[in-house]
Amino acid sequence: MTVALFGTGLLGGAIAQRLLACGEELWVWNRSPERHASLQRLGAHPAATPQEAASQASWLITVLSDGPTTRELLLERIQEGLRGRTVIQMGTIGSAESRDLAEAVSSLGGRYLEAPVLGSKPEALAGSLQLMAGGPEELFEQARPLLLRLSAEPVRLGEVGSAMAAKLALNQLIASLSHAFSLSLHLVQRSGVEVEAFMALLRNSALYAPTFDKKLERELTGDYSNPNFPTAHLRKDLALFEKAAQASGLETMGLEGLLSLLQKATPAGLDPLDYCALHALTAGRTAAAEQP
Ligand SMILES: NC(=O)c1ccc[n+]([C@@H]2O[C@H](COP(=O)([O-])OP(=O)(O)OC[C@H]3O[C@@H](n4cnc5c(N)ncnc54)[C@H](OP(=O)(O)O)[C@@H]3O)[C@@H](O)[C@H]2O)c1
Repeated sequence: MTVALFGTGLLGGAIAQRLLACGEELWVWNRSPERHASLQRLGAHPAATPQEAASQASWLITVLSDGPTTRELLLERIQEGLRGRTVIQMGTIGSAESRDLAEAVSSLGGRYLEAPVLGSKPEALAGSLQLMAGGPEELFEQARPLLLRLSAEPVRLGEVGSAMAAKLALNQLIASLSHAFSLSLHLVQRSGVEVEAFMALLRNSALYAPTFDKKLERELTGDYSNPNFPTAHLRKDLALFEKAAQASGLETMGLEGLLSLLQKATPAGLDPLDYCALHALTAGRTAAAEQP
């Protein structure tokens, strides 16, 4: 099975590396070609255009930043080249955006499976992503050997849209848990309580989540460089969650403050940094001092 992968960013680059390590024949395309130079050294074939990559493969994996970018690539650039191909869409986009894409890909003679993931660069490199799929069962079964390269247990949650809804639900938890922990950590420090003593209490409680320890050192040192998941993408996903939740009739008032706070990441220069840079925003009046 020849695969073409579009978008060799943080996640896409790691997925490409994993597929190459598994011995897959892989074509890669990225808007900024310098970003896949290291993949070429590992055996990937670089494509000059998305059309060229699509023409070489039967499986097209997209790992682009958002829905509009993915739509433009598939429907405006590859377009007729989708005929007879299967798109595995792994970037995080809205459920409605995903359903629209599926319909458009199908009308161009292609097939579409959404396959968002939980986990980041390290998990992609190790093939241990948590992969959720949405789409026809038969297609999921056909894609399974490829999906197993990336995830020990890919799970199909239902039709197109279902996996994106689950992914956004998980990312809402990333944002809300990070925000809640960050505020508590600041208050503990500003009250003169020893962080380790507070963490010991937290770790022994039902409130503990492993993500707290995972990000603690970065938050204590203010080092948000070398991101696995950038702040800009967390904001994008929270906004997608809010839209979907509102469409489902949920009350999202509690999220609005967090979204407004995340908007401040752009002028603060935090967008490309790790999402736990949210901690620099919750620092409030001393935020400038805490930024790397
Ligand atoms: N990183 C993670 O841990 C993680 C985990 C789960 C899901 N995701 C999702 O996966 C997707 C990719 O995330 P990432 O972390 O890999 O992001 P990233 O490093 O920012 O990569 C984004 C990719 O999209 C491309 N892109 C952006 N705008 C484009 C445009 N207008 N035209 C063509 N290509 C464009 C970029 O190309 P350039 O290199 O040219 O900028 C790059 O290949 C996002 O939807 C994200 O939410 C990420």
